[in-house]
Amino acid sequence: MIRDIITLGNPMLRMKSKPISVVDQEIRMLALDMIETMYYANGIGLSAVQVGVLKRLFVCEIPEYHDAPFVLINPVIKLSAAKNAAYKEGCLSIPHVQIEIERSKTVVIEYLDLDGKPRTLTESELPAICLQHEIDHLDGKLIIDKLISEEQRNQLVLQMQDFEYSKALINLVPVVKR
Ligand code: NI
Repeated sequence: MIRDIITLGNPMLRMKSKPISVVDQEIRMLALDMIETMYYANGIGLSAVQVGVLKRLFVCEIPEYHDAPFVLINPVIKLSAAKNAAYKEGCLSIPHVQIEIERSKTVVIEYLDLDGKPRTLTESELPAICLQHEIDHLDGKLIIDKLISEEQRNQLVLQMQDFEYSKALINLVPVVKR
């Protein structure tokens, strides 16, 4: 079942998702719905919070790198390389907006799979970026929190104005700290 994706302005996007204690049928159904929703929205990753469920779970599939979707439950970053991969990221919860963000090029992540079994995943390049982006969602963090300069913020505001974001939503973009 395709679920609605919540967007910027919905306070849930800023909340911390809770760990999943038991991987049961309800969680598996949620994961399947999220995969369907991610495909429908043409995304490469989707966190449970984005469909309004505050649980630490996300799905991810990047066609050039994976031949099947991943479901990661209670993911924890165990190791990350220096921040040296810059990529223009979008987010299904912030439509039409793209921001260049620096993240670790390689990450090692521990998580539970859909059978509740512990697993370790090592990813580099775009998959590593996607994993970091989705884990941020589970902690209430968004790409608009990663701006590195006033100039970049101004560019973002222009993008948002072009796509007719309301002033109230544009005001949610954090000011860059000096
Ligand atoms: Ni996102």
